Amino acid sequence: MWGIWARTMVKVGMVKPCCLVKPVSATRIAGRYLAHQRGLSCLPVPPLQQTCERYLAALEPIVEAEELTHTKELVAEFQKPGGVGERLQKGLERRAQKTENWLSDWWVQTAYLDYRMPVVVHSSPGLVLPRIEFNDRQGQMRYAAKLIAGVLDFKTMIDNETLPVEYLGGSPLCMNQFYELLSSCRIPGLKRDSVVNHAKSSRPPTHITVVHNFQFFVLDVYNSDRTPLTADQLYVQLEKIWNSSLQTNKEPIGILTTQHRNSWGKAYLNLIKDKTNKQSVQAIQRSIFTVCLDAPMPRTSQEMYRSRAAVQMLHGGGSRWNSGNRWFDKTLQFIIGEDGTWGLNYEHAPAEGPPIVALIDHVVEYTKMPELVRTPMVPLPMPKKLRFNITPEIKKDIEEAKQNMNIMVQDLDMRVMVFEHFGKNLPKAHKMSPDAFIQMALQLAYYRLHQRCGSTYESASLRMFRLGRTETIRSASIDSANFAKAFDDPSKQNSEKVALLEKAVKAHRSYTDRAIRGQAIDRHLLGLKMQAIEDLVSMPDVFMDTSYAVAMHYKLSTSQVPAKTDCVMCFGPVVPDGYATCYNPMSNHINFAVSAFNSCTETNAAHMAQALEDALLDMRMLLEQSPKAKL
Ligand code: COA
Repeated sequence: MWGIWARTMVKVGMVKPCCLVKPVSATRIAGRYLAHQRGLSCLPVPPLQQTCERYLAALEPIVEAEELTHTKELVAEFQKPGGVGERLQKGLERRAQKTENWLSDWWVQTAYLDYRMPVVVHSSPGLVLPRIEFNDRQGQMRYAAKLIAGVLDFKTMIDNETLPVEYLGGSPLCMNQFYELLSSCRIPGLKRDSVVNHAKSSRPPTHITVVHNFQFFVLDVYNSDRTPLTADQLYVQLEKIWNSSLQTNKEPIGILTTQHRNSWGKAYLNLIKDKTNKQSVQAIQRSIFTVCLDAPMPRTSQEMYRSRAAVQMLHGGGSRWNSGNRWFDKTLQFIIGEDGTWGLNYEHAPAEGPPIVALIDHVVEYTKMPELVRTPMVPLPMPKKLRFNITPEIKKDIEEAKQNMNIMVQDLDMRVMVFEHFGKNLPKAHKMSPDAFIQMALQLAYYRLHQRCGSTYESASLRMFRLGRTETIRSASIDSANFAKAFDDPSKQNSEKVALLEKAVKAHRSYTDRAIRGQAIDRHLLGLKMQAIEDLVSMPDVFMDTSYAVAMHYKLSTSQVPAKTDCVMCFGPVVPDGYATCYNPMSNHINFAVSAFNSCTETNAAHMAQALEDALLDMRMLLEQSPKAKL
């Protein structure tokens, strides 16, 4: 059976808003979440032999023949009976017996918390939504108020443990990530970061933080009877915040969070030496989420609008614009610009994209509903402004962060493309997996631009397993290479090209099925490597090998984040000479965000977006010209 991303989320459109919001304690169904979680399987440890064979197959399209021969010898040595591979495998199997998930802690550490590049661009994704028409500043405040009310409504489902369970390929998914989204924050360290989740504390927070003109405010979002503030109440509070943050000459303290993690770790210790600063930072960290009321960004053409909106969500545009109007360590930051641009930025350590878009789908539906209940306006206290004492040393750190941030902004090349010609309906009509079809278009586009295949990462969900995060689908395969090489070869017949496309799509879909069932290779290889580190054995040669480095150097880092809303996520490339592509396939169109670095002369986001569009159109033409494919 095909893996189906069967999201059975939120039918809020049909429910009146007054019924949606209930006090937390009144409807709490204790243990529902835990019971669901206990019913999930544990992530398996794949057989060693299987991973070794599949690893060699994955290398074939991306490494030279000579290199591969050498790697085959290393792999044979690694997996021989009684060898180091077997010892590490046994260690992993023991770990799997003792833990809820043998991988999840290692994964969060290595993929996120030990990763020292700035979270901005390099790790935290942005999400762009269709522009809202505001007529004035009041419009912006009103939308922000509704958005906050929508998120609080979603939070009620989390608190009550009444979130509908998500399914993939008919199997229920782990819901843990939903419980990590709110009231959490990343904390910088000198060598390794951590994440705190205040939702689990005995006194969970009841406030959000709002930032406007680089000034942070604590906004209590619950009434004394524990009901969430209504959109009307929130609007009044946001107006007060706006009016007391009109000055634009404030130090952008939030820009510190854009720094390289070691630098930020050091600056952080210095910042919180001061008691007032420490309390202000803690108020941000403890808050349920952050709302960024952004200043207008430079105007662009209609054509470039979505690309500009994407960078506003991803990095804020630099120190002159909105990069200081953020706290990038915060797990969730909702961003609302004065010109109707809106979206979010999220810190990746606690969760993947799908729970975030589930929340956004809910919020979008919520904001469309009329406000049926008007609460009597009891006066609410003034939201508290967070103070920061800026010492010369902190000022120096801010200046350094501004400079580095602006370099990063200059370097990012981002293109959002709405592919209007068809959506997932077309590949479905040709009995092909839409995701595999799009991935093959990416392979063809890359091959056409670079005349070779590049190591490719696509995220697959491991949430069928308890505390599961992601696995890698290696989209560059022998079959994808055969297809891409043949496509523009005039000596090949169309029927042969169609057969190669079908084979490549099927191979990709099979890889996907293996990945979501915990039988792909990348997390297993990571586990074996981590086990070697834990056992203090010297690093096996297979991990010191050039082929391994090539396999891990993802020229294409891709991800499908499907949503009901017409949005798209975006993120930066994971290597200096690579591309990142995120996409949301809708029924009749596909939203893509493609990025590259300007400092790399080999890559160009606009060229890649164009090549992708051409590849998709050419693939459609091929299928339509082929008699076999006629319906
Ligand atoms: N013929 C006709 N229809 C087909 C088909 C075929 N051969 N193969 C698949 N389809 C249909 C599916 O039934 C599904 O239908 P739906 O739209 O009614 O649900 C649709 O096409 C999409 O299927 P497909 O394109 O194959 O992909 P998928 O939805 O199974 O998603 C992944 C594939 C890899 C994206 C998904 O398994 C996954 O892991 N998602 C999470 C990724 C993630 O975590 N990203 C975020 C990282 S931050």
